Amino acid sequence: MIIDNLDKSKLPNHIAIIMDGNGRWAAKKGLSRTLGHNSGVESVQEIVEEVLNLNIPYLTLYAFSSDNWNRPPHEIGTLMDLLVESLKTELKKLIKNNIRLNTIGDISALPKLVQNEVKRAIDITKNNNKMVLTIALSYGAREELENVIKEIASEVKNNTISLENIDQSIINKHLYTRNLPDVDLLIRTSGEQRISNFLLWQIAYAELYFTDVLWPDFRKKDLYSALLNYQNRERRFGKTSEQINV
Ligand code: FPP
Repeated sequence: MIIDNLDKSKLPNHIAIIMDGNGRWAAKKGLSRTLGHNSGVESVQEIVEEVLNLNIPYLTLYAFSSDNWNRPPHEIGTLMDLLVESLKTELKKLIKNNIRLNTIGDISALPKLVQNEVKRAIDITKNNNKMVLTIALSYGAREELENVIKEIASEVKNNTISLENIDQSIINKHLYTRNLPDVDLLIRTSGEQRISNFLLWQIAYAELYFTDVLWPDFRKKDLYSALLNYQNRERRFGKTSEQINV
């Protein structure tokens, strides 16, 4: 078993996943895209459970990008329905397993019903502290950075901050991810090797892992493979190999 080869002391603190390939998975099987997304939810359930079992404290999932609004209205509706349904059915598990739900993105752009369900789950789980499950909804990293710049510029204009005091920690405090640590491992499924406007600032030093596995097929054994691959990388953060291995 791959899991036996994992070094439990060298796991990432924060995993982010671009869950891609639901549509292609369905097409390969002659099924509708809706069924692809349904199966994608089963992968979400299994991966959340496994990340929790491994005591990894932060998991961030790209569920709906700001560009996904350009999909056919029917598919957007399916994804929103699935989200509401999942939040309703999974809430008990979040509570039982001490998971705090968090979101990043422009939540105000979501239909009211989705907003209410999201807010309710966030509120009910707000004191949970074993793991933070962040769902990116109507999220785009460039939009996030645009907001950060506007907010800081307006603080400079109001004299609540001086230009000289703007630094990376101030920028961090304005990001949606202000309460999250940097991403250590970014996984993208389905063979695409791009970032697609996800967490551009936060992945500055993340290890990137791309796999051909389509999201509905991505299960715990695939997570172990990603983690094993991560553990075989040397993270130098700009230093030399000799400095890291003293
Ligand atoms: C990518 O597949 C997947 C999405 C755009 C949505 C991901 C959403 C889920 C797995 C379900 C809801 C999430 C939660 C957290 C309950 P794609 O449609 O881009 O696939 P394709 O590239 O093969 O067409």
